[in-house]
Amino acid sequence: MRWVAAQFADQPEEMIEQLKSFWHPDLGQQELFDGFSENTLTNYFLPYGIAPNFLINGKTYVVPMVIEESSVVAAASSAAKFWMSRGGFQAKVLSTKKLGQVHFTWPGDINKLIGVFGELETLLLQEAKPLMVNMEKRGGGVIDIELRDLRDLEPDYYQLFVSFETCDSMGANFINSVLESFARTMEDFFDTHPVFAEERGAFNVIMAILSNYTPECLVRAWVECPVEELEGACGDMDPLTFADRLHRAVRIAHIDPHRAATHNKGIFNGVDAVVLATGNDFRAVEACGHTYAAREGKYRSLSHCSVEKGHFKFWLDLPLALGTVGGLTKLHPLARKSLDILGHPSSPELMMIIAATGLAQNFAALRSLVTTGIQRGHMKMHLMNILNHLRAGEEEKDRAIRFFKDKAVSFTSVRDFLERHDEQKSKTSPKRKQESGR
Ligand code: MEV
Repeated sequence: MRWVAAQFADQPEEMIEQLKSFWHPDLGQQELFDGFSENTLTNYFLPYGIAPNFLINGKTYVVPMVIEESSVVAAASSAAKFWMSRGGFQAKVLSTKKLGQVHFTWPGDINKLIGVFGELETLLLQEAKPLMVNMEKRGGGVIDIELRDLRDLEPDYYQLFVSFETCDSMGANFINSVLESFARTMEDFFDTHPVFAEERGAFNVIMAILSNYTPECLVRAWVECPVEELEGACGDMDPLTFADRLHRAVRIAHIDPHRAATHNKGIFNGVDAVVLATGNDFRAVEACGHTYAAREGKYRSLSHCSVEKGHFKFWLDLPLALGTVGGLTKLHPLARKSLDILGHPSSPELMMIIAATGLAQNFAALRSLVTTGIQRGHMKMHLMNILNHLRAGEEEKDRAIRFFKDKAVSFTSVRDFLERHDEQKSKTSPKRKQESGR
């Protein structure tokens, strides 16, 4: 810290004080946070909020969300409340398979590989057994080992394509340990097996690692209602026009990758916030979701919509590799709190909660986009942030909200408004003038 401050601050002591001011007051806890990563100087705070009113498969949840973007939590809560009185969200885990690969090259005869594959498979499982005991006790382990011939894509290139069940853990460590054990076993096997006596050294493991693309670790969340029950979501618009416009917006996100990226970003506003709050790996979840969105060779919307025979249905299919045990989920005190708030869900239950949150977020964004536009809601938030920063009182806030209803909000315009208001009341606040830099 001293080195960083000396290098990058005009007043090193001040910088050190500032960095330290974000340390946890309990230094034992701080040591825990330091240990999550390397070269830790301090903590980087993000808001931790909750979105209540989530009814999912008949059970009510308060969903913890960690996100720095304003309006996201409000939008999720409002969409959840809207759907709560229309049956809530339904969700279903379609599959829970995780994947990993041993990438290797073999310039020899493929039939030799195929010929020994059964023998190799038995050995792989036998030698990785000690790593699998605990996972197998919990009902997980290796589900399948497949030999994939990919020589049409890369000379001599094959994969051992391995499927896993990892129960309530994300399973990254487990999968990588098993795959590395498989790789060692394969190297020994090819070095010593008589079938390969003439090709010693020809077999090469390139790498062994899990795949973050898990299209068969999949959850579906949906909402549906008769079109007329959309009344209440569509402002001045009639429900059928609203449903058609929302349907059209989803179609556009299916055919245009530029729109699809923004559309899916809105879904991940909700997804990532809960993934983070529960101590899960948001980079893995994002990488997987975007790969899935491009699985047909073109990047598309992750959500779908139908309006048929007066019935509106809106759904999201999302691959989510999550854990509710192990890793940060148990170590980070706030990840633990999140799981408490969610009622200690299993990993499949968390998949459903997160998919519902993503869908809620997508519904809220599209609802705004096809009706009033998103800036109105954002501007209201923006206005409140500025009013709070300028320490406006309740009466001033009410007046400002009325005044800015149909006007552009900026820091300067709000400050000017408050100063005019102050002047009218002949009691200018020196504090505010000082804080606003005037
Ligand atoms: C902003 O963070 C997210 C949106 O752009 C999503 C969307 O356009 O669907 C509002």
